[in-house]
Amino acid sequence: MKIDYQEGLIDPAELEEDPLLELGKWYDMAKASDDMLPEAVSLATVSPSGIPTVRIVLMRGFDARGIEFFTSYNSPKAADMDDNPNVSLAFHWKPLYRQIRIEGTATRVDKAESKAYWDTRPHGSRLAAIVSTQSASVDTWEEMADQVEELEKAYPEGSDVPLPDSWGGYRVNPTRFEFWLSRPSRLHDRFQYTQTDSGWAITRLQP
Ligand SMILES: Cc1cc2nc3c(=O)[nH]c(=O)nc-3n(C[C@H](O)[C@H](O)[C@H](O)COP(=O)(O)O)c2cc1C
Repeated sequence: MKIDYQEGLIDPAELEEDPLLELGKWYDMAKASDDMLPEAVSLATVSPSGIPTVRIVLMRGFDARGIEFFTSYNSPKAADMDDNPNVSLAFHWKPLYRQIRIEGTATRVDKAESKAYWDTRPHGSRLAAIVSTQSASVDTWEEMADQVEELEKAYPEGSDVPLPDSWGGYRVNPTRFEFWLSRPSRLHDRFQYTQTDSGWAITRLQP
């Protein structure tokens, strides 16, 4: 029999006042579950002409300042965010029957922070990021592989690979969160956090 819900409701008395802490609790559960990629999050941006697009990125950290991910600064998503910083994020953790939606504004993280993360990336991923103009067309995959091979001569494994201007992080400063838990017969349980002058207001939502 297909089980499509989790027992229990979200207990409002247990909800953190700060939604980033609540995100942390749910993310810890997701990491402890058999979800294959708990850090995967859908990111929706809006183009200058008002067209929305969505793709998956990997959350690389979050703290009181917001949710951080890394990408190419010459990608379509970067062009969108640099023109219109309004974005939406959605996590789905299937083993937990849970979703979190976040709205906010994205800004570039400072270069030192991007460099600190860049240095933790595998050597090959750094070279590939230098070679790629993300989402630009390319005739053959091999021509990019050749460029990586060429770059390897200048920057062999173990050497310091400089952070290119075309790559770095964004941080989403959140303005709204929604925590969603699947319940029987689709009578799901949802809580939203919205920003007020005195902090976050928490409201239960209908399914
Ligand atoms: C599981 C998964 C994780 C991904 N993580 C990232 C990421 O962290 N950063 C990134 O730029 N693209 C990531 N991608 C690729 C993006 O989804 C997307 O294809 C790429 O960034 C180009 O997007 P754009 O043309 O809208 O800018 C990931 C894709 C998948 C399927």
